[in-house]
Amino acid sequence: MTDVHLDGIARFVAGLHADGYLGDPVWREVFGRVPRHVFLPRLFVPLPDGQWQAIDAAHPDYWRLVYSDTTLTTQLDGTVEPDPTTGPVAGTGTSSSTQPGLMAAMLQALRVSSGQRVLEIGTGTGYNAALLAHRLGQQNVTSVEIDPAVAEHARRRLAEAGYRPAVVTGDGEHGWAGGAPYDRLIATVAVPAVPPAWLAQIRDGGVIVTSLWRDLGGAPLVRLEVNDGTAQGFFLSQPGGFTPTGGHEQVWLFAPDGSRAMVEDATVHVEQYGPRSLWDEVEAGYDRWTRAQASRAGTGSALPSPPPASTGSGSTPRTRRSGTTAPHTADRTAPGCGPGVRRTAQRAERCGEYGGASAAGG
Ligand SMILES: C[S@@+](CC[C@H](N)C(=O)[O-])C[C@H]1O[C@@H](n2cnc3c(N)ncnc32)[C@H](O)[C@@H]1O
Repeated sequence: MTDVHLDGIARFVAGLHADGYLGDPVWREVFGRVPRHVFLPRLFVPLPDGQWQAIDAAHPDYWRLVYSDTTLTTQLDGTVEPDPTTGPVAGTGTSSSTQPGLMAAMLQALRVSSGQRVLEIGTGTGYNAALLAHRLGQQNVTSVEIDPAVAEHARRRLAEAGYRPAVVTGDGEHGWAGGAPYDRLIATVAVPAVPPAWLAQIRDGGVIVTSLWRDLGGAPLVRLEVNDGTAQGFFLSQPGGFTPTGGHEQVWLFAPDGSRAMVEDATVHVEQYGPRSLWDEVEAGYDRWTRAQASRAGTGSALPSPPPASTGSGSTPRTRRSGTTAPHTADRTAPGCGPGVRRTAQRAERCGEYGGASAAGG
């Protein structure tokens, strides 16, 4: 690394410290030694029109972005590689480098000590695995990534930075029995509940730091201690907001009166809380827009196109009400929008996905 890089990293770490994220001097030292740019040779930058531009180190904003306290998107729709030589592309982020301040808060909440063994769920770029490997030794770190291409990139970047922790391709909800038992588990994806495999693979007295997304709003972070096959603990003050496992994203709407609505993209599952039904209001607004468009088409007067985030025309699903209890939920699965369907820009349009509007923190 050049002096310019080292200066940039030192300023980055000082900024995280000043913002209250890196109180622990040992982790400050680790963040100062592991170069984030090695794990992000290329990334996608969101544009005002909802598309993304790929950039690399040749771009004037690259170094500022890589050494900022920002989540950075590295993959769209599970397949697209950032290619700075092409123009803007559409898509939904499916892998990213988590906001460093959030990573620092989670790593410190793990309260590791030397020699402990850690399982990470959601390798992504490999940056967090590198921080763990630097702190604990690469032989003590195992990371599980569901996407084989992302896992392979992470292995290469980790090796380039001088770390070789075990990076396993698989579904992190099953943990990784091959390396169990672990002292700590850190998940940079959100789960609806603590998977039984994690409880089985963490030793008694071990700690899990993860983000929970089900019915809680904003996928808060929890720190849990495992004993006798159960996990108990508390919420962290730092907001989480990670993408749920499997890459499903949530969009949350909030109103000042406390009303909330959540739309889970892969299933188009909707939950609404509080006095107002915010998602119904969005749909009603969209219906009014389409009716006005149809009547103006008759008079030859055109309306501007809806923003890219609008529910796709022709697929607005009808609400299936679950009853009168809160939250009022509805499954709005349009054809081709169910779980397991590969995400594409066309599917995002058809299924009413809101690219870039996710509450995800990583
Ligand atoms: C926010 S990124 C992780 C950031 C990463 N820790 C880093 O330092 O760059 C989340 C990653 O979790 C992966 N993922 C999603 N569901 C998963 C699952 N069930 N098991 C393992 N990885 C998963 C995604 O493919 C994505 O790469």
